[in-house]
Amino acid sequence: MIRRDTASLAAGDHRHLWHPFTQQSLWCSTEPLVIASGSGATLTDSRGRTYLDGNSSIWTNIHGHSHPRIVEAVSRQIATLDHTSFLGTTHPGAVELAERLVRLLPGSTLPRVFFSDNGSTAIEAALKMALQSWRQRGHPERRLFASFSGAYHGDTAGAASLGGIPTFFEPYDGIHFPSHRFSSFDDLEEFDRPGEIAAVVIEPLIQGAAGMRLWPRGMLGALRSYCDRHGILLILDEVMTGFGRTGTMFACQREDVVPDILCLAKGITGGSLPLAATMVTETIYASFLGTIEEQKTFYYGHSYTANPVACAAALANLDLFTEEKTLERLQPKIARLSASLEPLRSLPHIAEIRQCGFIAGIEVMRDPSLRLPYPWHELTGARICSAARAHGLLTRPVLDTIVMMPPLCTTMEQIDHAVAAIGRAIGEVCGQ
Ligand SMILES: Cc1ncc(COP(=O)(O)O)c(C=O)c1O
Repeated sequence: MIRRDTASLAAGDHRHLWHPFTQQSLWCSTEPLVIASGSGATLTDSRGRTYLDGNSSIWTNIHGHSHPRIVEAVSRQIATLDHTSFLGTTHPGAVELAERLVRLLPGSTLPRVFFSDNGSTAIEAALKMALQSWRQRGHPERRLFASFSGAYHGDTAGAASLGGIPTFFEPYDGIHFPSHRFSSFDDLEEFDRPGEIAAVVIEPLIQGAAGMRLWPRGMLGALRSYCDRHGILLILDEVMTGFGRTGTMFACQREDVVPDILCLAKGITGGSLPLAATMVTETIYASFLGTIEEQKTFYYGHSYTANPVACAAALANLDLFTEEKTLERLQPKIARLSASLEPLRSLPHIAEIRQCGFIAGIEVMRDPSLRLPYPWHELTGARICSAARAHGLLTRPVLDTIVMMPPLCTTMEQIDHAVAAIGRAIGEVCGQ
């Protein structure tokens, strides 16, 4: 790749690229931030400015950028075997990774692992498995998916069917899987046709794209009991919460819940390469077994399924959890994050600060006492994040909720610095 200056890269981007979730006419009106390198919890731009990666590069990074352990594993693997089709062959990295993922859950209750490429496809596979499994178990009437308002499970058509954020699903109305969105667990409990539900799908403990909204404590356990009572499958979307974000390896461990299907992505490779896993019970897996004539095969997959380089990164990611005692060292950082957020509560425009483990959402409003939000088109959250850049923090909001979800390797000093940057940026944009 030829080295180019920032202005030339910006011009090339504006001429040829189309960014996700981005209004391009706005994007093309300013110079984009060009990220040139990453190290630990920080990213450095093409003009040499360094930022704390306050949202872990869209909730993916775990142990820091370009971690030598992951770089080494990836380099070794790509020099040995870059890719081989998972249709008709297997390879050592996929076998070892599946074994180790299975062992991460108590009692190895989800012993079958299906690999794909991202969070959306992990969910897509889960939904198709659930539908087909019920049909092959003699229950074709179970065709409905239950999800929740505010939910976000990805952008492929099936995953988007469950979405509870209208902006993301309304343009595609009419092409979705049959689904019903419930406003709360109580609302679901009142539903009069539980026998038609194939699966309930939920982001455990905390909804990310809804603005880091916390579920009431105990809700996940109650949902597991509800599903058991009605014979419904429970699909947990741990695409965001998996791999330590909430303080335990998986969020479901906080309420001792084991789902029927667990979806993992983002942090599975430490945030280095795209990979996802859909883990299922032996009962679901067994419902796909039969002769060729019985047509019970799961006809689903992608060209890069179980890519060996991504599997090597994922194995190094798991090794790092042990070698660097990531979860033990995270606990005091969670406490430090709470403590450093405390002074923000007294700022006049703070409506709510929500925290779950090492994830925080700081919501601002025009008048918090009246629950009066800023007009959405003023993009107040985005302007706060822009202002925070000048103080060395890079993050993205969800509407007017500022997300603070840095890599788990972030130091105590970096936590303090990042939260102070948010406080200053809120003051600058919203006023004192
Ligand atoms: C909870 C959850 N599920 C699914 C997804 C989709 O993942 P991906 O963007 O990798 O397709 C996301 C992405 O943010 C997510 O937060």
